[in-house]
Amino acid sequence: MISEDGLALNLPSEIQDITGKFSSKRPLFIKRDDQIHPWISGNKWRKLQGHLEHALNQDYDVWISFGGAYSNHLVATACTCHHLKIPFVAVIRGEENSNPTLRLLKEFGATLFFVDRSSYRLKENGADILKLLSNFKNPFIIPEGGNSTFAETGLKYLATELSSHLFPTQQKYLCVALGTGATATYLAKHLGSDWHIRIYPVLKGLNLDFEKRANISINKDAHLGGYARWDENLLQSMRAFTGATQIKLDPIYTGKLWYGVEKDLANDFFSEESSIVLYHSGGLQGLAGFADRTGLEVYPTSVGVSKIRPERSC
Ligand SMILES: Cc1ncc(COP(=O)(O)O)c(C=O)c1O
Repeated sequence: MISEDGLALNLPSEIQDITGKFSSKRPLFIKRDDQIHPWISGNKWRKLQGHLEHALNQDYDVWISFGGAYSNHLVATACTCHHLKIPFVAVIRGEENSNPTLRLLKEFGATLFFVDRSSYRLKENGADILKLLSNFKNPFIIPEGGNSTFAETGLKYLATELSSHLFPTQQKYLCVALGTGATATYLAKHLGSDWHIRIYPVLKGLNLDFEKRANISINKDAHLGGYARWDENLLQSMRAFTGATQIKLDPIYTGKLWYGVEKDLANDFFSEESSIVLYHSGGLQGLAGFADRTGLEVYPTSVGVSKIRPERSC
């Protein structure tokens, strides 16, 4: 039997007023899901919560999930399993290699299983994975990114936390970084009509039917050419944000979110009598991956927040 108790999660997460830090004409807030836990944070926890609640009543002998070599989801899942003493196998797309994320997974006791990109695409039906699965009696398979129907549970809780907060205006914008769209979709489903969801895709060429819905709009200009693409302006925007608020962002998701919100503020996109809420979806372990890939620190010591690894380990 496993229990959620050992995780010590900081919930409900704080909503901070950052209006005075910027020249925003509208009240500006940030929902600090990055503070839920050093490694099980942001929308990763929100998506995992329902999986955990489901698994509490089952007799799984292992959890298995999928992701890229820098996956926030795999880190959050590995740390959860480590706390709860559940064996975890991380199926990783691509050649065997090493980077800060993969080292972290190993620290959390995960077994790493690398598969080439063509087998990875087949997921549970690929020959490699079928062979892996045959080693277990009752595996719990969590899809890439934690995007199963169980993801809805935690995102519904998040919508409840947001809805129960008193903002200075009746109308609110929730600004969300978008990857697969699961987070934005479930939030849009569970937030009332007093919320408008403004989404900021972090990759190019997404084919989503979001635009057809009245309370959702998309800023298509914040992805900087594609997933994990970046430029000096992005880093400057992140550093300025962090210098003003002491809140770190990651360059893959929340950095691009702020980059887009800054442009929307400058273009007066947000309507009057509205509050703006940034959703900090975590992902800060990605800072170490960025440094590993590019040789650059997003936050050199001059910004005053140079520490990449949080104090608390898993
Ligand atoms: C930190 C972070 N923010 C936002 C997202 C985007 O979430 P979604 O894929 O549900 O759109 C992800 C990835 O999935 C993420 O890791």
